Amino acid sequence: MPVSHQPFTHLVYKLGMSHSEQLPISPGANTLGGIVAERPQTAAVFERLGLDYCCGGQQTLEDACRSLDLEPETVATLLATLDGDTTDGESGAHDLGDASIDDLCDHIVTAHHDPLREAMPRISELLAKVVRAHGSEDPEVVQLAELFSQTRSGLETHMHREEELLFPACREVAANQGGVSPDDQILAELDDDHRSVGDALKQMRTLSHDYRPESAHCTTHRVLLHEMQEFERDLHVHIHEENNILFPKVREMSGQVGNS
Ligand SMILES: [Fe+2]
Ligand SMILES: [Fe+2]
Repeated sequence: MPVSHQPFTHLVYKLGMSHSEQLPISPGANTLGGIVAERPQTAAVFERLGLDYCCGGQQTLEDACRSLDLEPETVATLLATLDGDTTDGESGAHDLGDASIDDLCDHIVTAHHDPLREAMPRISELLAKVVRAHGSEDPEVVQLAELFSQTRSGLETHMHREEELLFPACREVAANQGGVSPDDQILAELDDDHRSVGDALKQMRTLSHDYRPESAHCTTHRVLLHEMQEFERDLHVHIHEENNILFPKVREMSGQVGNS
């Protein structure tokens, strides 16, 4: 995720805050995905700074910050200042650390898959209108429409496979308290899909000039940029909840170690 909110980023560069405050997370949760899993309210900060906590969720805070020239200690201090539960806050990340595997599967379908199935045709329609009106003068809009179309089709297949193959296997693991495990091949393929979607989101953000409303050609284009930014935000949370919460829980219960 590229850095998209410059004022906030500048704050991180310039504050020079004390390093003494410690991030209130458990010692094991030092990866971006682990931090968001434990404290969902941190997702909004990571979104603003362009720190990839979903597909890049295995990075440590320190490595991820250094790759974007951000000071890890300052970011940690900012995270430490966040208070309480923001389940329905800006990031949309949910507090699911204690959820059962069944509840997680239900939640992912109702909170992410169903809304995504509603949003994607709407975005396709908006893109088609913008391409018709402005495609001849703006090739990036045409590329965006093509990339979105591929991503949509990939996501439709991906969600279908999760609902038909992966989630039933996860529920079986839960019902048996381990003893069985989801097909490694399917897990690896779904994980690859997440990475591809993450890459496509980055490209779409670039083609859309960071979704800045002032880059829009018209009102429809402005609506499109808003919808696409929401699409990105929700997918980050969605992929995080699968990669960093559901999959590790299932692997732990089925006795597997590590991540794909
Ligand atoms: Fe999903
Ligand atoms: Fe997924």
